[in-house]
Amino acid sequence: MQGNYKALWLNDDLFDECLEVIDQRQLPFVYDTRHLTNTEEVVNAIKNMTVRGAGVIGSVAAFGIYIAAIEVEGDYEALKEKAVLIRESRPTAVNLMWAVDKMMELLKDSDDLVDDARRFAIELNDEEALESQKIAEYGCNIIEDILKKSGKTEINILTHCNAGWLAVIDEGTALAPIYEAKRRGIDVHVWVDETRPRNQGASLTAWELSQSGIKHTIIADNTGGHLMQHGMVDMVIVGADRVSANGDVANKIGTYLKALAAHDNNVPFYVAIPTSTFDFEIRDGVKGIPIEERSADEVRFIKGVDSEGVVREVRITPEDSPAINYGFDVTPARLITGLITNRGVCEADFDKIQEKFKKSN
Ligand code: MRU
Repeated sequence: MQGNYKALWLNDDLFDECLEVIDQRQLPFVYDTRHLTNTEEVVNAIKNMTVRGAGVIGSVAAFGIYIAAIEVEGDYEALKEKAVLIRESRPTAVNLMWAVDKMMELLKDSDDLVDDARRFAIELNDEEALESQKIAEYGCNIIEDILKKSGKTEINILTHCNAGWLAVIDEGTALAPIYEAKRRGIDVHVWVDETRPRNQGASLTAWELSQSGIKHTIIADNTGGHLMQHGMVDMVIVGADRVSANGDVANKIGTYLKALAAHDNNVPFYVAIPTSTFDFEIRDGVKGIPIEERSADEVRFIKGVDSEGVVREVRITPEDSPAINYGFDVTPARLITGLITNRGVCEADFDKIQEKFKKSN
């Protein structure tokens, strides 16, 4: 992999090496990339969601420290200021803070900041890619179990937002077991929540699944409960942006409502995460996880392509009606069947998580 992943890759065509990323704001209408050549461009790409998804935000942040190291010509004190800017670009996905802190810790005694930053960023991302692969395998074992117990030939999985390779290198988290299921020849169909207001499901997850030839159906966010009541959903798999020590899970707004519907209909509800998404400092996620509030215009306007093939943004609300836009919510541990991690499946429970992740470190 050596710095070359599906959603982002190092590019040394320019004088100084930069990070090239897929501009996810333009998908599925246009496949385009952006060159991130300095700290400001890295911070803006995270803030304006050119890149998004907890894992990829962390990956871009790690390479962002490398690009900043070039910018500050190896001055660690100056790099610390750049690191703060990157670390504060979005508040909920803890992978961002994890990646910046890990890079800065690794670099504190470096005598060749630029080379070491490049090497550490690649190592960190190669590890994340391996964890994604592990999640694929453990998650697909669960898919096989549920399919076997159902006696059906096809398994119907509901997912919310985008937790594929656009969100986590290099296979995703929630979508990783689904890619593995396809490799194992399992007949899988995915219900894809559109995921208002930015439609990461309808635009990114559907695009990824189309690219891989995996059967899927886009649904309005409010449809999942009805499908569950009528036995049309065999399991739910979502990703996460932060998981607290007690197993509460922050993910895209609307995830909590899916968990409630799954609980009410005895539909297994799994959350797929790498170790970097745990925040062991927070003991109560519902109270403690910071929830991003984004521009109300993301609710008031929507992007699409018109009959001439032109990508347009249109307002869908009355001009003077106010709107509010929380980006994430927190699903309490009690509603989660299990956490699919790179170390296997774990109950969303403080002691079980400590056992698997803290005591074994
Ligand atoms: O606002 P986004 O698109 O960055 O939100 C992304 C999500 O909520 C994903 O489900 C989450 O990051 C999981 S991917 C690891």
